[in-house]
Amino acid sequence: MQTIEGLDPLRSAASQLRRDGPLALVPTMGALHEGHLTLVRAARRHAAHVAVSIFVNPLQFGANEDLAAYPRPRERDLDLLRGEGVSLVWTPTAEGMYPAGFATNISVSGVSDGLCGAARPGHFDGVATVVCKLFNQVRPDVALFGEKDWQQLAVIRRMARDLDLVRPHVDRILGVPTVREADGLAMSSRNAYLTAEQRAQAATLPRAMADAVAAIERGADVPATLATLSTALIAGGFTAVDYAELRDADSLAAIDRPGAVPARLLVAARIGRARLIDNLAVAPAP
Ligand code: PAF
Repeated sequence: MQTIEGLDPLRSAASQLRRDGPLALVPTMGALHEGHLTLVRAARRHAAHVAVSIFVNPLQFGANEDLAAYPRPRERDLDLLRGEGVSLVWTPTAEGMYPAGFATNISVSGVSDGLCGAARPGHFDGVATVVCKLFNQVRPDVALFGEKDWQQLAVIRRMARDLDLVRPHVDRILGVPTVREADGLAMSSRNAYLTAEQRAQAATLPRAMADAVAAIERGADVPATLATLSTALIAGGFTAVDYAELRDADSLAAIDRPGAVPARLLVAARIGRARLIDNLAVAPAP
């Protein structure tokens, strides 16, 4: 496994790997958990070689967010990736990624608005900008992202479609289902911020969401069901619900009941120092 920090060696290593067949990229910010390793395993089924990027992207953190505190267990991450048969780990520095004079911002309107975009202004611009750069640097045939960050995946696909990206083509930007702990909590690097008590309470999130999905699929009133969901989260130990919304799964347009288009329930809620997000598919009501 090669670990590379400079752009020129990265470009030549990536083109060397592409000679063996398709190259997959799994972009990460490190602090790897089973969810990331599931992305790597899925990537291996789609490509001859897998590249993983580890870059804690300052552009996607707000002024009051956890950039400095974000966990960076580099040696552990590299050991895990070695164990998964990864060929190349791309670890750019912040100065290399954003040298003095860097002045470009990719802003994807529509899908970036609302949901996490409302609570985290500029976050998705930071994501779109760094992912576009990572794509241009590694030039993968396929890229994989976790469905836990459903809005992020929609933003990246929109960006790839709108900018006519070819490596990867929008059709080769793949979402991988969320990996969950035994009690249903979606795996996240930010779960590490929870105390033992908060960690136990956090399982209210997937439980209350599953109840809400079942109710909506039975035909229950959507606004009333979302209000019940928020009440359950607060009763379960969450301190605030940033949003609990039913959206068109692809365009992320707001909808008030599941109809012909696939729908998604998306929630963000705060507990302790963590802001947890999750989403579930919702089948059309009868
Ligand atoms: O999901 C993440 O880990 C990050 O947002 C990503 C896609 C690696 C961009 O920094």
